[in-house]
Amino acid sequence: MTKIIGKYNWQDRVPSYIKLEDLTEQQQHRLIESDSFCMLPWIHLHAWPDGRAYPCCLGKANHPVGNFKEKPMAEIWNDAPMRQMRRNMLEDRPCVECGDCYEQESVGFASMRNNSNKNFGQHIAEINETLPDGSLPDFRLHYWDVRFSNICQLKCRSCGSIFSSRWYDDDVKLWGKELRPRIQFAGRHEEDVWQQMQQHVPHLDQIYFAGGEPLIMEEHNRILKLLIEKGNTDVRLIYNTNLNDLRFKRESVLDLWKQFPNVCVAASLDDQGDRAEVIRSGTKWAQVEQNIRDLKRECPHIDFMISPTLSMMNIWNFTRFHRYMVESGFIEAKDFNLNILQGPEAYRIDVLPADIKLKFKAEFEEHIKWLEPIDTITRAVGGFQGAIEFMMATDNSHLLDKFWSLTTDLDAVRNESLLAVVPELGQILKYSSKYQTEQQAFVESYTNVADPLWPKISTVEEFYALSKEIQQEVIETFNITPPQ
Ligand SMILES: C[S@@+](CC[C@H](N)C(=O)[O-])C[C@H]1O[C@@H](n2cnc3c(N)ncnc32)[C@H](O)[C@@H]1O
Ligand code: SF4
Repeated sequence: MTKIIGKYNWQDRVPSYIKLEDLTEQQQHRLIESDSFCMLPWIHLHAWPDGRAYPCCLGKANHPVGNFKEKPMAEIWNDAPMRQMRRNMLEDRPCVECGDCYEQESVGFASMRNNSNKNFGQHIAEINETLPDGSLPDFRLHYWDVRFSNICQLKCRSCGSIFSSRWYDDDVKLWGKELRPRIQFAGRHEEDVWQQMQQHVPHLDQIYFAGGEPLIMEEHNRILKLLIEKGNTDVRLIYNTNLNDLRFKRESVLDLWKQFPNVCVAASLDDQGDRAEVIRSGTKWAQVEQNIRDLKRECPHIDFMISPTLSMMNIWNFTRFHRYMVESGFIEAKDFNLNILQGPEAYRIDVLPADIKLKFKAEFEEHIKWLEPIDTITRAVGGFQGAIEFMMATDNSHLLDKFWSLTTDLDAVRNESLLAVVPELGQILKYSSKYQTEQQAFVESYTNVADPLWPKISTVEEFYALSKEIQQEVIETFNITPPQ
């Protein structure tokens, strides 16, 4: 399939694979101007490794459209939720399932919906087959994104046991019980989804592989081999991968990718070095860097980018990380596809206190000045601008205590310290109510024991402003220690 647009702009909404003049006015309205229409309910179904089905990977978690463990995909395709979504969209009405896209668009991000209308707009005529009740008699998947299982070798702090088998033991320690089985498969049995998917091979435009970790999944390997066998290697392959392992059962994925002209690898890297290793536990940073070098050398045709998820954990080094990856030659500046973490809510960057938000706003604006002349497609610039908007739009600082309790609970079961590796987090520690209570207790105990000849203090900061010798004397004389 050939792209027909000229200069690519990431925020552009014009469809990529069909000419505007071949679209009716109503089709143009739907694909480009509508605030609710999306191609995906006509060409796609998504499933989590636990079987919950969604219209796409951004579908609201509490609004599944069915369950792969209960019904065949063809039935979910025309069950009430999918029919309702199609009817809503044809009448320009919003859908509860699509809230995350609307939130992204409200801060200027090119959402999953915008991108899908751009990449799959060529199928717009197929919506004419929709029956009045919203059902679509032909079940044809042009776009696949099924998370076959939760098999993964990492346990990123932002993730969980639905998507990663490595989270299982931590869940048990945190909750005192098993929340779900260690390994989960999306279908009614291990082979179910694989068997149902094969009939759609002739319709395929694009497959998005995520997971779990796709590069260590049996199904991923099988699909690529099936496509090679059937000569369908012009399918677009898009990946989110942690890029820790390029080999599956001794076979290098690079050898398979060489046979596909249209591959995009978006490496989910949030930070570098030991920061990467604590935020995405199990990461071996030196190996990741080596894998990027191997990929770029052996498969120069691959559209390689970094797809970080911006959160409370990595915002501290974020602009430096971007520059590091560019200056090390791993990516061009534009190849930084920024995602914003929307949940768990305590990890969102809008939880930051107002004064720290202002500091990051200024830092991101400076970074954008560096980026603008070199980001030819505005993707990275748009990401940073959207991040500023997102951060400033809502004050969620009441969740700071929640952030600290999630973090310290996880530290305890993993025997790690996020604060030790990301020391900048110390700047927000003082806003947590636990810390404030400890501060108050220290000031009160000092006031109770120190006679008027000792310096007066009314905050812990004032104590730390005293000379080191006096601080030490207080600690030894009165046996009280200030909070760190
Ligand atoms: C669940 S992962 C699965 C694919 C692969 N294992 C990886 O990490 O790229 C898919 C994407 O979700 C991102 N992710 C992880 N936790 C997230 C969260 N809480 N919110 C949004 N995206 C998240 C990952 O960084 C990755 O880009
Ligand atoms: S690598 Fe991906 S699936 Fe695995 S734990 Fe991290 S985000 Fe989750």
